[in-house]
Amino acid sequence: MLVITGASGQLGRAVAAEVAARRGGEGLVLATRSPAAVADAIPGAEARRADFGDPASLADAFAGADGVLLISTDDIADRATGQMAAIDAAKAAGVGHVWYTSMLSPEPGNPAIIAPSHWATEEHLRASGVDHTIVRAGFYADFQVYEAAASAASGEFVHNRGRGRCAYLTRADIARTLAALLVAGGRAGETLSLTGTESLDAVELAARYAEVAGRPVEPVEIGDEELLEALGGSTEGHNQYGARLTVSIGQAIRAGLLDLVTDTVRELTGSAPEPLEAVLARHAAAIRQRG
Ligand SMILES: NC(=O)c1ccc[n+]([C@@H]2O[C@H](COP(=O)([O-])OP(=O)(O)OC[C@H]3O[C@@H](n4cnc5c(N)ncnc54)[C@H](OP(=O)(O)O)[C@@H]3O)[C@@H](O)[C@H]2O)c1
Repeated sequence: MLVITGASGQLGRAVAAEVAARRGGEGLVLATRSPAAVADAIPGAEARRADFGDPASLADAFAGADGVLLISTDDIADRATGQMAAIDAAKAAGVGHVWYTSMLSPEPGNPAIIAPSHWATEEHLRASGVDHTIVRAGFYADFQVYEAAASAASGEFVHNRGRGRCAYLTRADIARTLAALLVAGGRAGETLSLTGTESLDAVELAARYAEVAGRPVEPVEIGDEELLEALGGSTEGHNQYGARLTVSIGQAIRAGLLDLVTDTVRELTGSAPEPLEAVLARHAAAIRQRG
């Protein structure tokens, strides 16, 4: 029996659909805080309640599982505790293999504010004694569509990345790679890095945004504090965390920590990830509308 946590999220749904396409929905458990939302999502699959903040729910959700995919949560401020509790629950339930969705280069020293929680979870998993595979995923190419649209609208791509590079890939490519891994099994003790095909810096990104938008986009590099201010990071409230996240990811890119291209998606699935250019082209109408 295979359990996928976070099964009502976008990645969780996509992985579950890809797993079902490969081996059917029987023996697949969709574990989520909202089981009603996925009750009919996959014929033959079972929906169970699982909340990383509620250990009792995890014991029930993982009962009888041979493998569990732990999808990192979006509770970025305080997710390590719950994710580590989920690893403990998988161990207590006698789960044979755990997969965890981490980020590229989460080691201490990475300035991205999402890195420490991924690293703490990875370390907990390595120390758990449970067979596991850590899947470090690159940043979503899907989000570059919004960046391209905003750049098209203003004519500027404002950033703090220096000449650092990043190889984006779609959530869909991450999902089908995870599904291939889950269905194939094995790879215990490995840490895999999933990236796009091309590592691009801000100048190259701005050129691609300009091309799809059909109008000039100027790359404009500014300092961290200036970018934080521009994104509303100095004001209290919802924006603040998102602004700090964006600035800290820019710092990680500038430090070269995301400049990695692997062939792992193709090796595991048989086909390369969709290039960023193709992703932007699929959304050209929306990007141009803002330009
Ligand atoms: N590589 C990237 O660029 C990138 C970008 C954004 C996010 N991420 C990471 O990848 C994850 C999946 O992305 P997504 O696109 O599917 O995001 P999403 O649609 O926002 O999903 C958020 C996920 O967090 C789960 N979650 C939140 N609180 C939880 C809790 N207390 N216990 C268990 N699960 C909890 C949700 O599960 P349920 O609601 O089903 O319980 C859901 O699967 C994110 O949560 C984040 O860690 C990566």
